[in-house]
Amino acid sequence: MSVLSAISRLPRPTRTAAILAASAVALAGCGGSSLDQSGGGQSSGEIKIGLLVPLSGVYAPIGQDMRNGFQLYLDQHGGKLGGRTVKVVTADEGDGPQTGVPAAQKLVTQDQVTTVVGVVNSATALGLRDFFDESKRPLLVANAGADDITGARQSDYVWRTSFTNGDVGGALGPAVADEVKGEVYLIAADYAAGREMVAGFRKTFVAAGGKIAGEDYTPFGKTQDFQPYLSAIRKSDADAVFAFYAGAEAVNFVKQYNEFGLAGKTQLYGTGFLTEGGVLAAQGQAALGVRTSLHYSTELDTPRNTEFVAAYRGKAGKPPTAYAVQAYDAAAVLDKALAASSGKGGADLVKALGGVGAVDSPRGPWSFGADHNVQQKYYLREVESSGGAVVNAVVRELEQAG
Ligand code: PHB
Repeated sequence: MSVLSAISRLPRPTRTAAILAASAVALAGCGGSSLDQSGGGQSSGEIKIGLLVPLSGVYAPIGQDMRNGFQLYLDQHGGKLGGRTVKVVTADEGDGPQTGVPAAQKLVTQDQVTTVVGVVNSATALGLRDFFDESKRPLLVANAGADDITGARQSDYVWRTSFTNGDVGGALGPAVADEVKGEVYLIAADYAAGREMVAGFRKTFVAAGGKIAGEDYTPFGKTQDFQPYLSAIRKSDADAVFAFYAGAEAVNFVKQYNEFGLAGKTQLYGTGFLTEGGVLAAQGQAALGVRTSLHYSTELDTPRNTEFVAAYRGKAGKPPTAYAVQAYDAAAVLDKALAASSGKGGADLVKALGGVGAVDSPRGPWSFGADHNVQQKYYLREVESSGGAVVNAVVRELEQAG
């Protein structure tokens, strides 16, 4: 049994202490200094940053977009953040905490990174919260929307450059209540993100007078055939559907929704991940007319976004995604925070994160709230044909509920 897997069987507080102690022993054995819990123990010229994203599983394409976004920022800034040359250490989050938590622990204890950026899956983020809190290493979540990470379980050491699940779902509720004069069926992947996006949507939709026709949650990462669920939707006589799926699951759901004959009869809505990036390219015409809420679209008509889309296309050979923007912005935030701090990481970096102010993002300017989460606009988007491709056209800005 490896040291890390033996440690993973210990109770939580003992576990964090044991991980940090084991890494100090490993470092001493290599002739390195003992572990400085406030930072990465690195030379002043170079800084190591851990990039934890899925390189395998349902969300692997999302991980690739995030790597591209982070790397684009580095390329545009001479490979430096805050004046220091960056060495990126990439690790595979896989499909959730079973793989993501040990991978993050290895980045901190063995690779000695100053901070970890990434995390796609809400369940991974929830599983990591205590480790980063207790080891006092900053974690910049660049996707996972788990509500509690910047809510009930907020930590000084956990920051987010993406969104909160409940906010993305909640942004769409009033618009759907206004557009659909009937009942809406709710369906999502059965884990924290799916449950929270549906809960956020339900709250604002019902408050705006909307009615629910039924709901279903599909086993995450295991559902390829959506026919039984699509039959239940048809039987419910719903007038519209709200869905959360992302990555490979989003491709299958939207294609099968179309093949089953629901598209064009029962309006499909969702959080924007349902039709984002490579997912949309794979869905093609099957996604036409799908309406979603998100904080980004390649079609946002601003000079900042036009410039970003061109630069990203030049690097990746395809259009960017919200995932790429979130990771690009994480690099931008670290650039500012590292420039304003000692570079040691830990509490010093956290203090600097609190002072980064407005971020000039391709999604539009945003800043951190007191909860360490992004304060930003959401847009209503609709899938349309444009120049031989399908895109998420921006219909309008959504009003923020509450
Ligand atoms: C999440 O698990 O929080 C999550 C995953 C993929 C997405 C959005 C949210 O596209």
